[in-house]
Amino acid sequence: MRITACLALIGLSLSPLYACSPNKPAEMAQQAPPVSAPATSPPAAPPVTIPVSLNAVMVALVDHASEPLWLDAYEAPKTADRWREAEYNAYQMAVSGKLIQLPGSGPNDADWVAAPEWKAFADEMSAAGMDALTAAQAKDVNALNIAGDRLVASCETCHKKFKGDLTSMGIYKSPNYPPK
Ligand code: HEC
Repeated sequence: MRITACLALIGLSLSPLYACSPNKPAEMAQQAPPVSAPATSPPAAPPVTIPVSLNAVMVALVDHASEPLWLDAYEAPKTADRWREAEYNAYQMAVSGKLIQLPGSGPNDADWVAAPEWKAFADEMSAAGMDALTAAQAKDVNALNIAGDRLVASCETCHKKFKGDLTSMGIYKSPNYPPK
């Protein structure tokens, strides 16, 4: 219908052509900010960063969620509630593999996340977390075992390449976690 109407208008004269284009020149002239007023354009959003160090994320999230999963793979959860905890831990692994691709406040974080290998190792950890999620949802302890092996390999590969002997912020794994 609209095209027919436009074609009809073109037949009448050239000026009504403007009525058919999505941005009429008159409107565009009104909307375009004057060159001398750059303040009207919105500022570019600052890049997303983590408010704590990647060292802290390792200890408080990555390690916290992975340890119970390995214990579950060793001795299968006995209740539906415990399986649900395994499922939640697996979500945390899948997400933290993506989260650690953002820099935090640690002195080396920006350099680490800029390295292509870092991204590959972190993606691998996330994929292992997704395997653990499938296993936990199916309450399949064998599959959880296989996912756990993939997970630990992802930690070790990255630590070998990037983690020195000392942690950058002095934050270490708790020796008493998980609680008995
Ligand atoms: C993409 C790389 C990468 C992956 C994957 C990774 N880590 Fe880390 N991790 C590091 C780096 C680098 C540090 C040192 C951080 C610092 O010192 O600022 C670290 C530090 C840690 C620490 C604190 C230091 C310590 O020894 O107590 C723990 C705990 C830890 N990681 C556990 C894990 C576990 C468990 C996994 C796997 C489920 C894992 N990490 C996967 C890179 C990684």
